[in-house]
Amino acid sequence: MISPEDFIRKDFKTVHGYPMVCAFSYNWERIEQFQCRPDDIWIITYPKSGTTWVSEIMDLIKSDGYVEKQKNIPIFERVPMLESAAPGIMASGTEYLEKAPSPRFVKTHLPIALLPKNFWESNCKVIYVARNAKDVAVSYYNFDRMNKFHPEPGTFAEYLEKFMSGNVSYGSWYEHVTSWWEKRKDHPLLYLFYEDIKEDPKREIRKVMQFLGKNLDEEALDRIAQRTSFETMKTNSMVNYKALPATLMDHDISPFMRKGITGDWKNYFTVAQNEKFDADYKKKMSGTSLKFRTEI
Ligand code: A3P
Repeated sequence: MISPEDFIRKDFKTVHGYPMVCAFSYNWERIEQFQCRPDDIWIITYPKSGTTWVSEIMDLIKSDGYVEKQKNIPIFERVPMLESAAPGIMASGTEYLEKAPSPRFVKTHLPIALLPKNFWESNCKVIYVARNAKDVAVSYYNFDRMNKFHPEPGTFAEYLEKFMSGNVSYGSWYEHVTSWWEKRKDHPLLYLFYEDIKEDPKREIRKVMQFLGKNLDEEALDRIAQRTSFETMKTNSMVNYKALPATLMDHDISPFMRKGITGDWKNYFTVAQNEKFDADYKKKMSGTSLKFRTEI
C-alpha cells in the first residue's frame, strides 16, 4: 500500500528517461494501457502554461457558455489529468477518465514519448497551450514551493539551473514545446500561446470554439471571457485548486492563481541570469520556427 508519506515532497522518479512526479509514477502501466477514444479532446501543455485557464474555456464552450456543472464540480473532475494520482487521498486521473462519458476532455503534461500506446491511432483532437520559458520557470518555481507533490525547489537561482537542464518534472520545456509544435503538421492540433490569450481573450476563445466545431454567439463569448478572466478564476473555488486538501497544496505559501501576467520573470531574473538563459535558449531553440513573446 502506498501512502502519502511515500510521495509528499519526494524526489522525482524517472519514467522512460523523464523526471516524473513521484506520486504519479506508480503503476505506470495504467498510462501506457489507457484506452484513448477517437472523440476525446486533449489539452496538452508543459506545466504552468495556462492549462487550467484553457480547460475552463473548453468546458464552458462545451456547455454553450452556460454555467451549471462548472459551479459545483472542480476542474480536475471535469477535465481530469491523465497521469494524476494521489494514492490514499483521491481517485487517479485514469479512474476518473474511465468512468467519464464521451466525449471526454483529457488533460496531460506528458511529453510525446510518454503518451498511451493507442494515442496516435485514435487521432483525437489536441489543444496545445504554450507559454514563454521565462514566465513558465517563475510560475513553476512558485508552484513547487506550494505543491507538496514536488520536491522543494530550493532558491530561484538553483531552480533556474534545474529548469534549463530539464531536471524538473516532465523534463525539458524546450523539447516539449518544440516537439508538439512539429506535431501540428500531421495531427488535428490547435497550438495556442498564453501570451495571445492574455492579449485578446475573445479572439483566442473563438479559435478554440471553431476547433471544437461550435458556433456560439457574441453573448456566450462574452460570458465565457468574463468567467475565465484571471480575477474571476482566482476567486472561483472550482478552478483555483483550493478544493484540494492543504496537505497537497498550500496556497498560503503561494496561491495556484498567482499573478496571471506576462513578464513577471523580470521580477525574478538577475541581469546575469537573463544573459545566461538567453544564450542557452538560443542554442536549444536554434532548429525551430517556434517563437515566443516574453512581454506583451
Ligand atoms: P502564474 O503562476 O504566472 O500566475 P497551469 O494551469 O498550466 O498550471 O498554469 C498556471 C498559470 O496560469 C499560473 O500562472 C496562473 O496564475 C495562470 N492562470 C490561470 N488562470 C488564468 C487566467 N484566467 N488568466 C491568466 N492567467 C491564468
